[in-house]
Amino acid sequence: MNDPELRRLRTTDAPDVLAAFVAASDMARQGSVTDAQGALAYVERLTEAAGPHIAFAIVHEEQVVGVVGVTVDTGNRNGWFWYWMHARFRGRGWTSRAAATVADWALGEGGLHRLELGHRVNNPASGAVARAAGFVQEGLERSKLLIDGERLDVVAYSRLPNDPLPSVPRLPMTER
Ligand SMILES: CC(C)(COP(=O)(O)OP(=O)(O)OC[C@H]1O[C@@H](n2cnc3c(N)ncnc32)[C@H](O)[C@@H]1OP(=O)(O)O)[C@@H](O)C(=O)NCCC(=O)NCCS
Repeated sequence: MNDPELRRLRTTDAPDVLAAFVAASDMARQGSVTDAQGALAYVERLTEAAGPHIAFAIVHEEQVVGVVGVTVDTGNRNGWFWYWMHARFRGRGWTSRAAATVADWALGEGGLHRLELGHRVNNPASGAVARAAGFVQEGLERSKLLIDGERLDVVAYSRLPNDPLPSVPRLPMTER
């Protein structure tokens, strides 16, 4: 199977984004996208020229199957790092490879000094992606989220420019 490619997210990707959001209930925490209008609003927010987001689409056979994004804190040159993958395309290592590629870019050409992310403790796949992308665990934010009536800890990770580079093969980035 061909490797996917990375390029900037575009407003025309909204239908593919909607398909990913309706494919799995765990996407609900990524944004409120339940119809075409919501998908367009989500993509417009992420692609706003003056906005804080830099969003890369993971494209497989012309379909956007996932997104890796960085939400930039310009003053501190930090970035909040996040990702999702359409349920049908998970478990192929594509999110890990995309996250490693985007993190390299963000800490290099992207000019950031610190990337940070967090995942709830009952989302171990997200932790596996973070580690594969070179993130280092910093700590545990206790009882941080209230989900379905239950308080959950969040595992905090970061990646700095001089951290050891991850070993996963990178994906081609066709548009920076
Ligand atoms: C988290 C998510 C992005 C992972 O995407 P993916 O494409 O399956 O990721 P990859 O295939 O690159 O890697 C998944 C890793 O998680 C591991 N994994 C999957 N389910 C797991 C589980 N229940 N327990 C432990 N590890 C698990 C896989 O083994 C793999 O690790 P490996 O490469 O070391 O074997 C995807 O599940 C998703 O989009 N979830 C909903 C949105 C989300 O939670 N985003 C993160 C918010 S913090």
